[in-house]
Amino acid sequence: MMSNLVRERTPERAVHGQGTGAFGFFEVTHDISHICKADFLKKVGQKTPIAIRFATSGGSRGSADLVLDNRGYSVKFYTREGNFDIAGFNTPVAPFKDPLDGHIITRSARANPATNAPDANMALDRATLVPESLHMLMYTYSGRGIPASYRNMPGFSVHTYQVENENGDQYFIRCHFLPDGGIKYMKAEEARQIRADDPHYLTKDLYRAIENGDYPSWTFSVQILTETDVENEGPGVFDLTKIIPEDRYPLHEVGKFVLNRNAKNFFAEVEQLAFCPCNLVPGIHGAPDKVYEARRLIYRDAQVYRLGGNVFNIPVNCPFLVQTHTYNRDGMPPVSGGEGPNYYPNSFNGPEPFVPKHSTGLINIIEKDGADNFDQAGDLYANILTEEERSTLIKNIVSKLKTATHFLQKRALELFTSINQDFGDRLKQEMNITICSN
Ligand code: HEM
Repeated sequence: MMSNLVRERTPERAVHGQGTGAFGFFEVTHDISHICKADFLKKVGQKTPIAIRFATSGGSRGSADLVLDNRGYSVKFYTREGNFDIAGFNTPVAPFKDPLDGHIITRSARANPATNAPDANMALDRATLVPESLHMLMYTYSGRGIPASYRNMPGFSVHTYQVENENGDQYFIRCHFLPDGGIKYMKAEEARQIRADDPHYLTKDLYRAIENGDYPSWTFSVQILTETDVENEGPGVFDLTKIIPEDRYPLHEVGKFVLNRNAKNFFAEVEQLAFCPCNLVPGIHGAPDKVYEARRLIYRDAQVYRLGGNVFNIPVNCPFLVQTHTYNRDGMPPVSGGEGPNYYPNSFNGPEPFVPKHSTGLINIIEKDGADNFDQAGDLYANILTEEERSTLIKNIVSKLKTATHFLQKRALELFTSINQDFGDRLKQEMNITICSN
């Protein structure tokens, strides 16, 4: 027992370390087989087992839930064609569109390597060096940064996925998961008070609700674009830092998620969950943008580091509705099965690799220079946020700006002013600073 005790810690997730999850089902309520041939979407009423994990982004395993941060919202569909995973956010946009910026965003949200404490300068430096991140920051800081409960938290795929129907016609979808109990947020002051006594309030709230039979549910909808829409709209529809306007591309309901089972053992079933953008099923190609391409590689690598080379043999990561055949053999536990030849091609009736009927590849996105990083951020400020949300946004930004060094304050205020003049003016007023124009 003692030797088990000293070996029972595994590496935590490199990001989104603090979270919780539960299990349930996805039920198709509307037929979208005309755009996507994936088996789990085929028939109204069809149910597929799912796992969902919610997490803060910056916090380490064991840190508080009720902090001002954007959140992860990940879904694993255990389909009859294998597992399909979406690891998305609770904001409709991400903080970067170049995969190399993922490194700046992640590192700067962590502790300062010298002090091992959070550092406003690091956070502000990154926000101003990757200015397209300000759109997401504005969502999080305008009062949408702390969910009242995970049951009331929305989710978004953020990426625009390429899908195809039985005829090989290509379509593009963005996914929205909207809580049937309504989207609700918590005020920062209330969160501070609860956090003082109960840092894992959101985790316990979800667990309690499911134990009490009060099962949370979400409506899963998609925005749909045709190939012609994509040609007309341009590369912006694949830009992770931008939304796709719902007035032009409305939501089409697909189904419901219901969470009705808690893990019996948190480590086995939630900590060991491994969501990977490389887990796709026929009919869903993934997203054609560069960040998705990077994510296909890095998640598997991260999970092999975190959980070992046979991470997909861990029961919670197995596609248990289908028998899988693989040429993978041996290695560190868990290891199971593996009959027949261990190389391919072979002359001994070994399994044949899956070859799709249509060999459609992902489309190429060509982004021209000078993409506008601030148009939607400006629209969010001026036309979408309420006055109360604008005030919350300004208060939250000022609380970070105040402790940062002068040159970063200046750079940030210039960027916020470029987003919207009134936004910049109000921030300067709150900061009581006059910025020189040079
Ligand atoms: C190049 C960009 C990115 C990199 C390098 C990256 C890297 C990672 C890594 C290493 C993990 C831990 C995986 C594990 O150990 O299981 C992770 C988790 C996660 N990432 Fe990313 N990420 C990127 C972009 C994104 C984007 C754009 C989104 C949202 C659309 C996202 C959402 C998530 C979520 C929700 C999790 C937690 C999954 C869970 O609950 O287990 N990431 N990411």
